[in-house]
Amino acid sequence: MSLAASTESVHVRAPGKINVYLGVGGRHDDGYHALATVFQAVSLYEDVIARHADDFSLTVSGADDVDDVPLDDRNLAMRAAKLLAAATEYPGGVALEIRKRVPVAGGMGGGSADAAAALVACDALWGTGLSAARMHELASRLGADVPFALHGGTAVGTGRGDQLNPALARGRFDWVLVTSEHGLSTPVVYGRLDTLREEEGALADDPPLSLDVPIPVLQALRSGDPGQLAETLYNDLQAAALFERPDLAQTIDIGIRAGALQGIVSGSGPTIALLCADPEVAQDVQTALRRSGQEALHVHGPVPGARIIV
Ligand code: C5P
Repeated sequence: MSLAASTESVHVRAPGKINVYLGVGGRHDDGYHALATVFQAVSLYEDVIARHADDFSLTVSGADDVDDVPLDDRNLAMRAAKLLAAATEYPGGVALEIRKRVPVAGGMGGGSADAAAALVACDALWGTGLSAARMHELASRLGADVPFALHGGTAVGTGRGDQLNPALARGRFDWVLVTSEHGLSTPVVYGRLDTLREEEGALADDPPLSLDVPIPVLQALRSGDPGQLAETLYNDLQAAALFERPDLAQTIDIGIRAGALQGIVSGSGPTIALLCADPEVAQDVQTALRRSGQEALHVHGPVPGARIIV
């Protein structure tokens, strides 16, 4: 019987993320930087639907710039499906459908969410029954942010960002996300940070190859108090992202003037994440940004990682 004859499908939803803290250390020989970060999964999701097929194929819909998303092996979801098939010696293929909401190249881990969702969906569709540990290992081979998209919630990431430990976070945090029409390339932003650091001069110490998340960040998350978290928001990539997109500083300003507690570049940008005291303030901030002609979304975190929903 052809595998394609079956109509069974699996639908998985995986969240985008904000880095509420992102410390970037030195660059390892493999080109990756040492990180100490805190991820928070937020209520902006990617949906991946997997259907039986003899070959591997992919369709993508949802985002304005969906044409920028590759449909071949450059796509992380496609790579995830093929990696799982190879690791489990599964002989068939899969037809993947991605419905995007997380901005493309936005610094919110949309591609990583697709990969995590594809792993979970194919594992269920194919009945390959991978353990959580093995799933995490495959995820980390696909990209530094993929394990977190599997995991969700709030977590500390060290190493390349892929070594995860859950962080205790109380309550709900309200964020307004300001998206951009055009994305930023993650390697370009990391490269810009290296250049900026080199220009800062020989006086500065070399960035460390191992670093920790400062305790006050973890305390703020545990307190559940957005005011406390706002004081500890930090991103080492922010200066590099603002170098590429100086206009983003103004976006943060508009958000703060409209009532946000603090604003930060999400990951490598260009999405801006504005932390708000409660849902009502977030509504005001969203309205003010929309009036200024920007695309703004109200989300909350933390939310769970990649989950089967049908
Ligand atoms: O792992 P991922 O594919 O998401 O990383 C994309 C790019 O981001 C890497 O090729 C690298 O240039 C940069 N990166 C880094 N250090 C990290 C994570 C990502 O330099 N810890």
